[in-house]
This record gives sequence, structure tokens and C-alpha cells, in this order.
Amino acid sequence: MANPGAAGDERLGSAPAVEACRDLAASLDLRTKVRLLTGSGYFTVAAEESIGLRELRMSDGPSGVRGTDAPQAAALLPNATLVAASWSEQTASVVGEILAEEAAAQNVHLLLGPTINLHRSVLGGRLFEAFSEDPLLTGRLAAAYVSALQRRGIGACPKHFVANESETERTTVSVEMDEATLREVYLLPFEIVVQDADPWSIMAAYNRVSGVPATENRRLLTGVLRDEWGWNGLVVSDWGATTSDVASATAGLDLVMPGPEGPWGAALVNAVETGMLAESVIDEHVVRLLILAMRTGVLDGSGPPLRSTQDPESRRAQLTTLAAAGCTVLTNHGATLPLDRDSRVALIGRHAIETVCLGGGSAEVMPPYTVSIAEGLSELLGDRLIVAGGVEVRDRPPAAQPEVVTDPVTGRPGVRCVVLSEDGCVLVDGHRPAAKDLISDPPGGRVDTILLRALVPLGGYLEVGGIGVGDWEILAGDERITFSLRVSGRCFGEEALAPPVSTARVVMSPGTLVEARVAVGPAFQAHRPVYGNWGLVARSVPPDDADSIARAASAAAAADVAVVVVGTTQEQETESIDKSTIRLPGAQDAMVSAVAARARRTVVVVNAATPVLMPWLDEVDAIVWCGLPGQEGGRGVAAALLGDIEPAGRLVTTFPAEDGAAPAWAVTPSEGRLTYREGRFIGYRGHWAGLAPEPAFWFGHGLGYGAWEYGSPTAAREGDDVVVTVEVTNAGIRESREVVQVYVEPAGTEEPIRLAGWTSVTVAPGATVTARVVIDSRICRRWDQARGGWVAVADGNGLVVARGLGDIRGRVRAPRSS
Ligand code: BGC
Repeated sequence: MANPGAAGDERLGSAPAVEACRDLAASLDLRTKVRLLTGSGYFTVAAEESIGLRELRMSDGPSGVRGTDAPQAAALLPNATLVAASWSEQTASVVGEILAEEAAAQNVHLLLGPTINLHRSVLGGRLFEAFSEDPLLTGRLAAAYVSALQRRGIGACPKHFVANESETERTTVSVEMDEATLREVYLLPFEIVVQDADPWSIMAAYNRVSGVPATENRRLLTGVLRDEWGWNGLVVSDWGATTSDVASATAGLDLVMPGPEGPWGAALVNAVETGMLAESVIDEHVVRLLILAMRTGVLDGSGPPLRSTQDPESRRAQLTTLAAAGCTVLTNHGATLPLDRDSRVALIGRHAIETVCLGGGSAEVMPPYTVSIAEGLSELLGDRLIVAGGVEVRDRPPAAQPEVVTDPVTGRPGVRCVVLSEDGCVLVDGHRPAAKDLISDPPGGRVDTILLRALVPLGGYLEVGGIGVGDWEILAGDERITFSLRVSGRCFGEEALAPPVSTARVVMSPGTLVEARVAVGPAFQAHRPVYGNWGLVARSVPPDDADSIARAASAAAAADVAVVVVGTTQEQETESIDKSTIRLPGAQDAMVSAVAARARRTVVVVNAATPVLMPWLDEVDAIVWCGLPGQEGGRGVAAALLGDIEPAGRLVTTFPAEDGAAPAWAVTPSEGRLTYREGRFIGYRGHWAGLAPEPAFWFGHGLGYGAWEYGSPTAAREGDDVVVTVEVTNAGIRESREVVQVYVEPAGTEEPIRLAGWTSVTVAPGATVTARVVIDSRICRRWDQARGGWVAVADGNGLVVARGLGDIRGRVRAPRSS
């Protein structure tokens, strides 16, 4: 191979800024240039004083800026599916603005998000991070988010390019699909975000695409991203995804993360020196890195953008509104919702008290506080609210809540954490406000032993234990508990993302000191515990499920209305592991049925990012889906239930009626390959085409608190655009927001039905407005496999005006072009 990619940097053009970066790159020697192309740390790129380059700092992620040096408190926003349920580019912009402020406050230059992979199978563990099952909705929301972020000087990094829709075998799986599916479905959100928002970077995924690793996929990284789409941002590898040197460097990958070790370094220097690789390839990557540095103020000395001036009260209001507005009313018989303020409410379920506000993995953020649904509702209902707890929802007990444990040194809520090296040096000795995420990046030295100490002021009958790999010894009063924890090997990054747990039951007197010693063992001594792998468990022993159900049913019988909060936890909604069922964990279904049998009225709140089965659907009066609503989630949900803020969300994922009843289900690769057999018929498209039975709820479904009448739609050409116009009347008794959706319905069965545009209107009761929906032309084309290019879809297609495909309100033919 001689000088592969030699002409690469011509693609960058010759704008003055590019020329300036080229000159700077040219002033560096080969080793320095190559050093810059691998991270200097887990989330940093090295400074290079000779050219005025300062350290570039990155942070995850989509729902909050977790920081470069986690753990530190940062605002936790509602998760991506709850944000997307607004079906509002305006809302996605607000999210981008908040994240930009949070990033600036932490001196972060590049935010590793948004996640724009699609909800292909609802089993995907990471769906909570990604917007939706639809490429147009996902792409347009992502573009609004990215534009808002970058307008404020913070770079975005849409991820994971491409075909990373599930987690099983995620670092090795080869995802296979036909070219039309790749183009029309999985590449489309990236194409839209590139076209509409020009992200400053994009992250190459862990997986392979048709056999070729995404980080060394020249056809995609150079052919599609750069040559076809004309995009000139920086391609960053997913963390640890790069497994080759010259192959990835010439394919179009610019930056290997994390560092400082990695496959490039000496190997690329050697490749250039032996003539295997043209130095201009290295230069091209460095120039791109410098352009990013310039855009984010790391190069030109302009410094980071202004720090946030957001006051806590308005942030609180913003986060409450975001959470409430995305809540989605799935059923509402007899106008059960909004709740009557004077009614006596029995609030039931573990999720009511321990509301799950975020998913697990790299998207995790440590919020300064969280408001549970119980707290949010009690602020509004006072003593008309009775809270009754509920059945166990987790297999793995979580780390102790700060209100249960106290640091014996400082007396503050949380634990004392001491980390020792092999030779007994103290690497860390500090207070930790949470009983998990204890160690982010110990300063030098190999971790040998971790000591965790906490007082349990209230004592009682407790479940005590440890989270994380190692040999544990816990002393709790007179009790000594020992156990060894190892990873099962079932997923990549398990020690960080789903660490093993063991607990024992102990009776403690108030003020007992719990002391844990964890010998982490040689296998993990070199491991850099970035996500905080260790934690201390201390919680009251949960009551027996049958007792909890009986208590819940009696509380329900004594109230005017029962609100049962059910859901998933980070055991289901997590990076690194997929689900095997969408059934609610534990005995939650039995609890809902028992409550519904005794209550006058039953409202179910679903605290889950993704679809769950609802065998009790016909037994309850109303159902509201509330995603993972972030730190103000409890206030948001309370405001939505009482109608202070309308829960005007529309579903972003089709809810299957049964396990398996969807166009794509299994996510376990066979012999390393995962084939997207349903092709372009993802989600609602496949249900519509008969590849799967009628779903429980369609993508786009959501009732809000209005009642809507539609006139007859018309469609007309306005210049290059096709515009659908329809009158909508709010026949309800309160102001409401309607999302008017238009789908293209092709004549035959070859092409899928697909969302082509939408708009939202907010209408006073009794009023009528005209809604205009512009059809997005990127939906009106088809990838011609034979020709290897796009062809326009024939004019005269049917257009369907709907509130989700389960509630069609009109049809009109697209006008023919003259
Ligand atoms: C995830 C990325 C994330 C990165 C850094 C990886 O495991 O796939 O989405 O940005 O870690 O935390």
C-alpha cells in the first residue's frame, strides 16, 4: 500500500480558518501530531503550547453534562424519549441551550451527544438515550438540539455512527442490512443533522457495518460523510472502539478516544516513517482537530463560552416544564384526568417514592437532588395524599441514599471513601455525597484496596452490602459479612455498567458504623474506574410483595382515586445490556390489578423510557407515560396529573401488545451477525404493513387534555414544497396542544408508510386554527439499489393526516408537480 489517502486534506477546502489550522499543523513534528490524535485522558485531548492549543475537554452526554472529572453534581434533564415526546424542535432547542450552559459552567468544550440511533427493537438497552423509532423525527430534533448547543460555542457529537441500535455483543457485532434500509432509515438522522446543523464532530460506533468496523469503515466515514454529504467535522471513535492503526486512520477516523494509550501512537509514526501511510493523512486529522479547537475557543485564546448565569429557580421551572410537557396520556376514560384537586389520592408504587429519573451507563449524571412523584404530588395535594409504597422492582439493590448514611468524618450525608495503592499509599481520601460513583480517576498508583465507611443514624432492620468487583469484608456493629464479587462476562464494560452486588440482612442499632474493605484484586488493579464501579448498600429491608399489594389495595379502597406508579429501572434502561422482555419487572402487574379491583378510579403512571406491556390496560381508568423525567420529574408529573401543565406528549416508539409482537424483536446476534430483516419496515411502518399485529399504542399516539375535530385536509405545492393544510378545532374544555402528523402512504406494498412532517398548534377551547404541515422532501425519495442513488418517489402519493396511525383523521393525494 503506498500513500493511501494522500489527497485527503484537499477535502477541507481553503477557507482562511482552515488555512490557519493547516499552517499550525505544518509547524508540528510527526510525533507531536500523532500524539494529539489520541486522547490525553479519558475525556481530554492534550494541550500543545507551541501552537496555542489548550486542553480540549469532553463530557457525556445526552441528558446532562456529567463532567470531565466525574463525579460532580450536574443538572439532570428528562431523558431523550421524554424530550422527543414533545415532538417539538423548539423543545429540543431548549434542551441544547440548557446543556450548553451546563457545559460552559464545567468548562466542557464538546458534548458527547445527542444519541441518534433508532428504536429498532424495543429490547435495546440504550433506547432511553435515543429520541425515537422514526428517522425524520429523530433527525429534526437532533438538528435543533445541535444547533442550539453550537450557537453557544459548545460542540456537539451526534452518535453512534451507525447501526448501533442494540447492545448485545456491541463491540464486535456485524450489523447487516440492505443499502436502501441503511440509507433511508439508519443514515437518515445523521444526514439530516449534518445538513441542517453541521455538527462539529460525530462519534463512530463500536459495531461493524456489514463486516467492517464502524471506526475503519472508509465507505461510510469518507465516502458517505465527507464525499457525499460534504461534511468536514471531526470523527471521534467511541470509547475503546478503535482496534486498528492504518486501516482506521485512512478510513476517515480522526481521533481515537480515550487515551493516552491506544492503537495509533507509535504504530502510525512507524507507518509514516516506513512509507506505509502518507503524512498528509495525519495532517488532515490534525487540521480537523484544530478546526474543532478553534470553533470551541480552545485554540484562538477566546476561552470557553460565558459561564452559566442561570439561577436555580428558573432552571427548576425549565426542567419541570420539560418533564411535564413530554408526559403522554395514553388512555383517559371518563375524564379521570386531570385529577380533581379536592380528591383524596392514594399514591402507590416503589416508583412513586424512588422515581427513576435517569437511565444507566455513560449517560448517567449525578444530580444535585431529585424530586420523586410522591414529593411532587404532596407539594400540590398536602394531606389529601396518602403514599403506600409498592412491590420490589429491582433484582439488584441500589447504593444507599444519602438520607440513610452519613460520613463519619464530616457528619454530612454520604460516605467516606479511602483508596489505597498496593504499597499502602492513600490515593483518595474524601467525602462522597452518594454511596456510589466513588472513584473517578485516582491520581496515579494502582488501586489495591477501597475502604468505605458510613454511619447509619436510624439503624433498623437493614439490607447491607457492596456493589463492585473484589473481595469484600463488611463490619456492621457485631456482624461481619464477607463475599467475593466477579463479573459474569456477559457484556462489555460490565464491571462499570452493571457491577455485581451482594447483600445480607442485619439488625442495627441507631448510629451503627458500617465499615467495608474491598480488596479489588490483581485483575482490576490496572483498571481505571471511570464510572465509579463501587458502592455501599444500606437500606431498610423491603416488605414482602404480598403484604405490599394488600396494603396498596386497602389504601386505594379508602381514597377517591388511586395513582399507581409502575416502571423500569436502570436494570432495564441501561447502556451495555439489552432487555429480554418488556414485561414490567417484579409483581407490578399484579399490584396494578389488585389496586384497580378495589379503587373507585385508577390512574397508572408509567415511569419507563421505553414501551412496557400493560396486561391491565382495560382494568384502569387512565394511563400516563412519563419517561425518566430528570431531577424535577416528580414536580413535572404532579403538574401534569393535576393539569397545571398539559401532558401534551405523543409517543416516539410504538408500544407492542405482547413480547415479540413487533417487526423487529431479537437483538442477539447469530454467529456475530445481527441482520435487520425487517428492512425499512421499522416500528410503526412494519405494524402498518402487517409484519406485526396491531400494537397496544401507535407511534404518534397521545391524547393530551383536549378533544379534537379535524376538517378535510388539502395539499398544495408552494414553490418546491408540498404543504398539507387542515383545520383543527379544540372541542374540549381547556386550552390544549395538538400535534398534527402527516404520513406518506405509498400505493403499493413495496414501500413503507412513513412520517413526512408534523406541526403543533395550541388552541383555546372552542377555537379553530389552520395547521400547515410542510412535507420533508428527504422522505419523498427512495434509494435505488440497482443504480446506487436516490430517485424521487412518484408524485401523487396518498397523504394520511393522523394522531398516530391508530387515529386517522383524513386523507389527501399529494399534488403532482407541473
Ligand atoms: C459510549 C459512548 C460514550 C462513551 C464515553 C461509550 O461506552 O458508547 O456513548 O460517549 O462511552 O463515555
